[in-house]
Amino acid sequence: MLLLNASGCLDALTAPDVARQLDAFVTKTVTPEPRGGNQPPRIAETDFGMLNAIGLANPGRERFLSRNLPELTAILELPIWVSVGGFSAVEYAETCAALPDDAVAAIELNLSCPNVDAAPESAAEIVAACRAATQLPLFAKLSPAAWDVTEVARAVEAAGADGLSLVNTIRGAVLDADLRPRLANVTGGYSGTALKPIALAVIFACKRATDLPIVGMGGVQSGRDVLEFVACGATHVALGTTLFSDPDAPRRVRSELRTALDEAGFERVEDAFCAAHEPVAAMDNHA
Ligand SMILES: Cc1cc2nc3c(=O)[nH]c(=O)nc-3n(C[C@H](O)[C@H](O)[C@H](O)COP(=O)(O)O)c2cc1C
Repeated sequence: MLLLNASGCLDALTAPDVARQLDAFVTKTVTPEPRGGNQPPRIAETDFGMLNAIGLANPGRERFLSRNLPELTAILELPIWVSVGGFSAVEYAETCAALPDDAVAAIELNLSCPNVDAAPESAAEIVAACRAATQLPLFAKLSPAAWDVTEVARAVEAAGADGLSLVNTIRGAVLDADLRPRLANVTGGYSGTALKPIALAVIFACKRATDLPIVGMGGVQSGRDVLEFVACGATHVALGTTLFSDPDAPRRVRSELRTALDEAGFERVEDAFCAAHEPVAAMDNHA
């Protein structure tokens, strides 16, 4: 199991010591053109998590390739996963084609940002275009808000994805005391604690629907959370919102995971892989 950061939740150039605690670093989503993102305020705390409407602010593909990626490679000595976004299948594929195989370990296709208008093509069309453009492993990052996420998961698997990243944020809104939206964008992506049960359900369902390895994320805060994600079918786990309040989370979570494994009676985290599926498999056998 690899412990990663969730895209957009850690700036490794300003906090390299946090990134070095991970097994691989995932970049913020890169789009072909630079983006300033949405108007502030773009972040709001809620009772059970956080809303963000960053709007994919990023330096754009050219600057990412000429400045950010070489700097990340030089300071991290970690596998780097690049999160790719765009507004058409061609845009996604062009960025994938431009990523150097020797500096990039994997590509995560952000097919699910709630803060920007989605590409008109389907997730499967985007994955197919990217598959034709690169040999690098492709992880499709899906929205938990899809009507039937397992259908999307099967479609991206058929289109050539090597893995799934589950889940992105889910759209939400929060009001201030005067009943006005606290985000200038009105809505934002809801992340943190409240997302965990939703993420577990999506991972569980997609594990049953496909053979793809899954990077699980959504409200992971503790070692016990990591164990639950693995039990539902995650091969790897990513830390997101928790990194904003606790930069030491990777180290802490690893140490808590050791305790959680002991308490659950497992020697290695891999031994708990899909443990939550056992009662369902038993029911299937009886049917
Ligand atoms: C401030 C912020 C920025 C984010 N930016 C991105 C992004 O650029 N690309 C992406 O795929 N996901 C982005 N996400 C979503 C996270 O990668 C992750 O899927 C989500 O927050 C759920 O995990 P968490 O509850 O542990 O934060 C962002 C999340 C937050 C909170």
